[in-house]
Amino acid sequence: MKTVFSGIQPSGTLTLGNYLGAMKNFVDMQEDANCYFCIVDQHAITVPQDRLKLKENIRSLAALYLAVGIDPKKSTLFIQSEVPAHAQLGWIMQCVGYIGELERMTQFKDKSDGKDAVSVALLTYPPLMAADILLYQTDIVPVGEDQKQHLELTRDLAERFNKKYNDIFTIPEVKIPKVGARIMSLNDPSKKMSKSNPNPKSFISMLDEPATIRKKVKSAVTDTDGEIRFDRENKPAVSNLLSIYSLCTGLSIDDIVAKYAGVGYGDFKTDLAEVIVAELEPIQNRYHELINSEELDQILDIGAEKANRTASKMISKAERAIGLGRKRR
Ligand code: AQP
Repeated sequence: MKTVFSGIQPSGTLTLGNYLGAMKNFVDMQEDANCYFCIVDQHAITVPQDRLKLKENIRSLAALYLAVGIDPKKSTLFIQSEVPAHAQLGWIMQCVGYIGELERMTQFKDKSDGKDAVSVALLTYPPLMAADILLYQTDIVPVGEDQKQHLELTRDLAERFNKKYNDIFTIPEVKIPKVGARIMSLNDPSKKMSKSNPNPKSFISMLDEPATIRKKVKSAVTDTDGEIRFDRENKPAVSNLLSIYSLCTGLSIDDIVAKYAGVGYGDFKTDLAEVIVAELEPIQNRYHELINSEELDQILDIGAEKANRTASKMISKAERAIGLGRKRR
């Protein structure tokens, strides 16, 4: 049985981008793989976070994982900071990585661009992400396209470690969805939809009320030629809306284009908003049942225990391979 690992940062309420590009694909995977789904709170603190808001976001993300259909009987759902081996192996991976390769990461360049005070951790985030994945002998990492570069680095670090010390890490494969790998911002289709974007009009949150979703879709940018057609290069905004429609309904882009031939953007957007509301409504209902429940804490306790069991074996192996500590393990 293959092992799957994926993490999401509790750096805000998840967007439709996080859902369509990542979470929605997780549900089917748990049927025939050993899945670990992680709330990577240590990654979230690479940029400043309000402590109470962070706590709220961690819990909210856990509830969302379950609300979309992650089944704790089939998958392990846990919080990164409750499994100390992540930070321990993260340090080792920093020692295996080179500054030059970290400075080349586009996410580091984007997130540090124009900022005076940039945390060291924003640069060293990818070795921690490598550790997250490598601790579980992961075969497959399902992510959106934005994480592809970090995944390539994870493979490089694992191969370097295996060659230099001992062949202990499984080299993971990245799995990027064919459609929806990159859902773009609603007000700027050249940027990806991001939960930490300060402009709430740029994203649809998974917990937005139907009225808010309708308003945001209505104000999403389009273009002036008025034709509903998929063309990422020349019509990025409309193409993005078509991708969202397709992923929420399961209809092909061609079928949607045919359905809206000769129809204006206004009607298309009205229907799109309803499609999104219908997709998110059952998730939101389940979320509200879970968010203040004891069940949620029990699931996270069991998840942390299971993850700790696997991860502590792997960190011991890595420390032994590199020569840390005193014990002849
Ligand atoms: N716009 C997107 N389209 C498709 N997939 C996306 N993902 C994120 N944005 C999109 C995928 O969601 C998973 C979780 O991402 P993350 O929270 O760990 O980090 P991120 O990629 O940095 O996501 P955000 O929303 O942009 O967060 P902030 O604003 O905090 O940086 C990943 O699999 C990612 O590919």
